[in-house]
Amino acid sequence: MKIKLDWALPNMKDAKKRTKNEIERVDSFVIPDNMSWLGQGKKYYISTYGCQANERDSETLAGIMDAMGFVQSDIYEDVDVILINTCAVRQNAMEKVLGEIGNVKRFYVKNKDIIIGVCGCMAQEEGFVETLLEKYPQVRLLFGTHNLHQLPSMLYDAMICKKRVVKIYSREGEVYENLPVHRFGNHKAWVNIMYGCDKFCTYCIVPYTRGKQRSRYMDQILDEVKELYQQGYKEVTLLGQNVNAYGKDIDDHYDFATLLEEVAKIGIPRVRFTTSHPWDFSDEMLDVIAKYDNIMPFIHLPLQSGDSAILKLMGRRYTKEEYIALYDKIVQKIDRCAVSTDIIVGFPNESDEQFEQTLDVVRHCKYDNCFTFIYSKRPGTPAAVMEDEISLETKKDRLQTLNKLWNSFALEKNKAYEGKVVTVLVDGASKKDSHTYSGYTDTNKLVNFTGENIEPGTFVDVYIETGKTFSLDGRAI
Ligand code: SAH
Ligand code: SF4
Ligand code: F3S
Repeated sequence: MKIKLDWALPNMKDAKKRTKNEIERVDSFVIPDNMSWLGQGKKYYISTYGCQANERDSETLAGIMDAMGFVQSDIYEDVDVILINTCAVRQNAMEKVLGEIGNVKRFYVKNKDIIIGVCGCMAQEEGFVETLLEKYPQVRLLFGTHNLHQLPSMLYDAMICKKRVVKIYSREGEVYENLPVHRFGNHKAWVNIMYGCDKFCTYCIVPYTRGKQRSRYMDQILDEVKELYQQGYKEVTLLGQNVNAYGKDIDDHYDFATLLEEVAKIGIPRVRFTTSHPWDFSDEMLDVIAKYDNIMPFIHLPLQSGDSAILKLMGRRYTKEEYIALYDKIVQKIDRCAVSTDIIVGFPNESDEQFEQTLDVVRHCKYDNCFTFIYSKRPGTPAAVMEDEISLETKKDRLQTLNKLWNSFALEKNKAYEGKVVTVLVDGASKKDSHTYSGYTDTNKLVNFTGENIEPGTFVDVYIETGKTFSLDGRAI
């Protein structure tokens, strides 16, 4: 029997609407008095899936929970609230989430007062929400990516009024400033520079789950970075689905190159950004990256496919040749630049020859790192209705071939580090061995190294002994 709903469900048609209307910007955030004590003596656990946008959202949720008096726990036993911040980008990401929602049911069976909340991109999916509410009675709170600021009242309704709370908007979205934040890292921080995405690549659900591209004002971003710098943060990563398109929704004089330069001038030792879509990559950006030592020589440049016809079907707006020309320009202009990418194999009806074009680009670019995926049909996206005769077996074979190829280049690149000294920003000691530490180079290489009494958040010179496919091994000097 279907349950009756008296709340709005997510709707793909509304989610994809884009108007020319000014977006709403909200600067103030207040927790009403009757809700500010709600967390006294209570604990919460947050589990986060998906991309850095979700990581940063979880930091906001944690910040709001802290402001209400809750205390974060890193295990879910004995907590009063569990929040699962979900990702909908591929079917397997969604299955992992459903596994966890099933797994935490045991807490609800024992204690009907526990609040199990599901939020993030899956909550924005038409079709999914109804199933979730029907099949998973343990989910007491469900809210979308546009509703984070309503967490206090949602928790109040769930905990005090004992309601099952569902709050999801399918719309372009707003920009909320000054929401509380509990940063999970002590020396590395995420900084949103924009929300949403207007690119509508035909395979991708993100423009529907995250709304319209909405850039933050530059002075607000710079204030956040200055504050992080004053607090002693060593690294910031500027976040957006397409950072290169930053500001285009505000006016023509607002661009990413200018923002990046202003951020670099603040003096924080390491500045990173992600993701940079090849489409809006400007020469000015390259000049700024090359000019400032504290902008890291590392670029994530998603390829998706090396075949121009597939790229066209994907709506990526560049050809194989244009991508390669951009790659060449990047490595020529930016000294020692490392490049990573995302690749999808098995887009509807991708032929062997078309897949070969992807391998060809990988042979040219010899990426430092690749994130490779089998195409996953996202209901409601244009690609979901494209005919596809390619078997899953073929797609899996292609993924293996691709992984073997990029792994061989990654190993070759990492071997070239052997015998060299690199500067590592230390994340911390290994849980198993207190003399082994890990951290990252400016080129975003993971380094595992031995040393004594090294503090997280410090810069250490490391002599590299061995280059492996996914990391470098060495010793502190
Ligand atoms: N904004 C970023 C990507 C965000 S999603 C960009 O444009 O590059 C991260 C990656 O997931 C994408 O780069 C793509 O490789 C992959 N992805 C997105 N939708 C997918 C789908 N339907 N099937 C498989 N992989 C997908
Ligand atoms: Fe998805 Fe394309 Fe937007 Fe990236 S640019 S989030 S792949 S629609
Ligand atoms: Fe996933 Fe949403 Fe990010 S779908 S990749 S969490 S924007």
